[in-house]
Amino acid sequence: MEISKSKKLFEEANKYIPGGVNSPVRAFQSVGNTPIFMERGGGSKMYDVDGNEYIDYIGSWGPHLFGHNPSFIKNALLASIENGTSFGAPTELETKMAKLITELVPSVEMVRMVNSGTEATMSAIRTARGYTGKEKFVKFEGCYHGHADYFLIKAGSGALTLGVPTSPGVTEGNAKDTLLAEYNNIESVKNLITKNKNEIAAVIIEPVAGNMGVIKANDNFLKELRAICSEEKIVLIFDEVMSGFRVAKGGAQEIFGVSPDLSTFGKIIGGGLPVGAFGGKQEIMEQVAPKGPIYQAGTLSGNPLAMSAGLAALNHIKEHPEIYDDLEKKSAYLEQGFKNNMQKLGKNFAMNRVGSMMCMFFTEVKVNNFNTAVKSDTNLYGKYFHEMLNKGIYLAPAQFEALFVSTAHSYSDLNKTITANYESLKNIL
Ligand SMILES: Cc1ncc(COP(=O)(O)O)c(C=O)c1O
Repeated sequence: MEISKSKKLFEEANKYIPGGVNSPVRAFQSVGNTPIFMERGGGSKMYDVDGNEYIDYIGSWGPHLFGHNPSFIKNALLASIENGTSFGAPTELETKMAKLITELVPSVEMVRMVNSGTEATMSAIRTARGYTGKEKFVKFEGCYHGHADYFLIKAGSGALTLGVPTSPGVTEGNAKDTLLAEYNNIESVKNLITKNKNEIAAVIIEPVAGNMGVIKANDNFLKELRAICSEEKIVLIFDEVMSGFRVAKGGAQEIFGVSPDLSTFGKIIGGGLPVGAFGGKQEIMEQVAPKGPIYQAGTLSGNPLAMSAGLAALNHIKEHPEIYDDLEKKSAYLEQGFKNNMQKLGKNFAMNRVGSMMCMFFTEVKVNNFNTAVKSDTNLYGKYFHEMLNKGIYLAPAQFEALFVSTAHSYSDLNKTITANYESLKNIL
């Protein structure tokens, strides 16, 4: 595959942007070689600067539930831009967006728009702290909630002790209020609560984890978490930045039948533009400024372009709930195709899937938390990634990411992908 133009652009980018990219995983560091520079996308496909075509399973890391540049989002954006790009004053679009989110996700009674998933999660934590008057919070090892200081805490070997900073620049002071628990292990949460009685403001969790590969929370785990948080007056936050509007119309909370106190969103609600949102119980959200004392603000928050694209996406979801059956069928088809290939090749790699989010882990161990996810052979994944890329299939350039199926993927795309998967596995095993 010819990628000389991409290579040249990457060299140039490296002179001006750290590592040549604006978000680290794009640099291909964990799979080797240089990143591919994209020029355009349409439907299930992306096209690079050298003219290569790819069937895309990243979908801009989640937002493209309907594939690239669907006409209903493009037209909404074109119509909106005619009126200007931003006013810094309220627009009706913001109320329509907030109302639609509360309709689709019943646990959300009030919502505030922000500009990214990171802003949503950090604002949710501040709100929980302000509301409860407590400072510590629990996060789960392997869950990603954006890049705010106190989320960048790694467990280390003493997984259930106080956090230590993972990134330079994160102070110990910031890290000490982050408590780490093990995903799908309710005892680990109970232990932290006992040791930090009346000090924990929030528990934040990805109800479908998508940042250590894909891992589904056990049914009872989320229910027990809900019960403990209610008992201990801890705010339960579901980070649905990835799972929201993807795994179901009402997100993972609809599938599990568990209502969090606060939820965070991003990705799909922006229709491909930079957006985030946090919302939940009115009693809590009314503590946010200017109604309440907890400060939160944003120059471009709720800007009309992002609202128009997001509204087009969410209205489409509301009017076409059948898309989730379509996504389920296509995703199950792909999963089964991969499983059949593995069987033919005498392998039994762990495959986890929730709706249109899935992950093939290069380990035969059952994966249900961070410690089992990291048993994956990441070198082998790197080889697999490049085999697939050479066959025109664009997967995440890292093992611990989700593969996203969109409504734009055709069965012909899926069949090509299944064939490429077989050939790729055969070549690397
Ligand atoms: C679950 C989850 N929360 C938060 C974030 C952060 O969102 P953003 O990258 O828009 O800041 C991400 C990003 O992938 C995510 O997957």
